[in-house]
Amino acid sequence: MVKIAPSILSADFTKLGQEVESVRSGDLLHFDVMDGVFVSNISYGLPVLKALRPVTSLPMDVHLMITRPINFVERFCDLGADIVTVHVEADEPEMIREALLRIKARGKKAGLSVKPGTPVSACEPYAGLLDNLLIMAVEPGFGGQSFMKNAPEKIAQAAALVRKLGTDCDVEVDGGINRETARLCREAGATVLVAGSHIFKAPDRAEEIRFLRGI
Ligand code: DX5
Ligand code: ZN
Repeated sequence: MVKIAPSILSADFTKLGQEVESVRSGDLLHFDVMDGVFVSNISYGLPVLKALRPVTSLPMDVHLMITRPINFVERFCDLGADIVTVHVEADEPEMIREALLRIKARGKKAGLSVKPGTPVSACEPYAGLLDNLLIMAVEPGFGGQSFMKNAPEKIAQAAALVRKLGTDCDVEVDGGINRETARLCREAGATVLVAGSHIFKAPDRAEEIRFLRGI
């Protein structure tokens, strides 16, 4: 069954602890970090992760939309991230490889993400290191955008790459997920769906998480 990762980017930050509690029936908690350089927005970072770690037992799925992520991956691991995903576009190839190795050396899951304009093949050189392959279905930086039409094809390519390698790597999709696009993603072979605005604006968040799982 597909896993659902509520993204707290769409939560009410004045009561973040309660908001996290309200999505506890999810499988992961998605934590978007933006630096204002790699993407044109700034979100939250290390102190917020540290504050949230004790208030949820869900695995923390940290999505780093930052340049030169190697400078930060170990600190996110040490403050409670369970999965740390960096962008393949965020640094030189050798630095990306080293960032993934450092995440794994901390005993955490390592992920690599591609923006909508980056082909899945850009991840192939790192494929043996990956526990998560994150396909962006919107330009990273903001919640509430529309799912891009080329996403299902990229999800299918990512799923095929994982099958070819025979490794235990998730195919995660982030951006524009609602009931309809969730179905497209599941059919294309996604194993994790990130959803922010759709879940947080739902009257019954637990019910919405069930709908997104498609059961
Ligand atoms: C966008 C973030 C997403 C965001 C998704 O850059 O990576 O995780 O929260 O938001 P929705 O589900 O509203 O598209
Ligand atoms: Zn994200």
